[in-house]
Amino acid sequence: MINANGNFQLLKTNYLFQTVAQKTKQYRVEHPDADIVVLGIGDVTRPLVPAVVEAFHKAVDEMAKAETFMGYPENTGYEFLKKAIIENDYAPLGVDLSPEEVFISSGAKSETANFTDMFGKGNTIAITDPVYPVYLDSNIMSGNAGKVSYSGEFGKIRMMDCIEKNSFLPEIPKKRADIIYLCSPNNPTGTAFTRKQLKKWVEYANKNSAIILFDAAYKAYIRDNDIPHSIYEIEGAKTCAVEFCSFSKTAGFTGVRCAYTIVPNEIRCHVKEGGTVSLNKMWNRRHATKFNGVSYITQKAAEACYSTEGKAQIEENINYYLKNAEAIRNCFKELKYTVYGGKNSPYIWLKVPKEYTSWQFFDYLLENYQIVGTPGSGFGKCGEGYFRLTGFGSAENTAKAIARLKAGK
Ligand code: MLT
Repeated sequence: MINANGNFQLLKTNYLFQTVAQKTKQYRVEHPDADIVVLGIGDVTRPLVPAVVEAFHKAVDEMAKAETFMGYPENTGYEFLKKAIIENDYAPLGVDLSPEEVFISSGAKSETANFTDMFGKGNTIAITDPVYPVYLDSNIMSGNAGKVSYSGEFGKIRMMDCIEKNSFLPEIPKKRADIIYLCSPNNPTGTAFTRKQLKKWVEYANKNSAIILFDAAYKAYIRDNDIPHSIYEIEGAKTCAVEFCSFSKTAGFTGVRCAYTIVPNEIRCHVKEGGTVSLNKMWNRRHATKFNGVSYITQKAAEACYSTEGKAQIEENINYYLKNAEAIRNCFKELKYTVYGGKNSPYIWLKVPKEYTSWQFFDYLLENYQIVGTPGSGFGKCGEGYFRLTGFGSAENTAKAIARLKAGK
């Protein structure tokens, strides 16, 4: 019998969305006629846009002919997609990147988790609470979290409370942090950093030789001008920040799988033996060993997101989800709930009535309204007393949920 990775014993038994799915399934079994509206996991419901579908078909046809067939994809991504990303997502922001700083992958979730491979032992890791569970779980799995105290806290993890009092935005740590996870627009709270707020983090990271792992998976939902679409809009970020982006929530690729990570050439890390190494080179080395790239077909489809038609069609979908989010937000406001998010973000973060915990409110919504959401406490202790809903449902289902809530049944 092999020895198991003991770090797994430190994880919660289930991944949050597994628990939500199991509870929903159980309810379905017990109430086979229930018409459940799922606004829990942030999964898209709009089909792929025509420009993307057309690119898929074309790429499949290329793969069907000997002259245009492609074998193993370029390990870190094809140049055509990297160029489209740089020209469309960064150049208009005044951010200059080279193709070797762009890594095409199958998802921002796995990339943020895999990035734990880059860091040696002994770093202090700052993570927001509430948080997208992947950041914490992946650090626990890879043994970066340190010893657990009696109160259940990890020695090397510093949680940054995001509560009403600080508008759900983390405060600069008083004690040193080496690796800092930030997500903006935020999952789950829906809040986003302004340029001025993010600048403080970049300054902190550069001053302390820390690294920011910046999750920008929801940047397509930004509508306010003072919210940056990329951390590289902030001067100095290229020496301290890695950025994770995805086509999932933008172009509806949750089932297709394509994302990209920016690892600037300027970032250096210490090595035990002395001196420094390039993080970009290390990440490249990891890709070469552990990843065989994203399929040509998928990368051609991702490239089509940047065509004139693709951009317009995707924008229509983003507006559709934002409209859902706004409708949910307005509904709960009308019902006198305290509501956050739902602007510049597909997520609505609401305060549950005092008499409920987050999970009790989950049961309450499911049993009384057949609506599934995500309990805030699943994202961390500061999420207790909150509940997350998403604008990613269909407009019909969102309207149905709202009608039920307003009717009180
Ligand atoms: C969420 O609901 O938080 C996301 O869909 C999870 C993910 O992107 O992995």
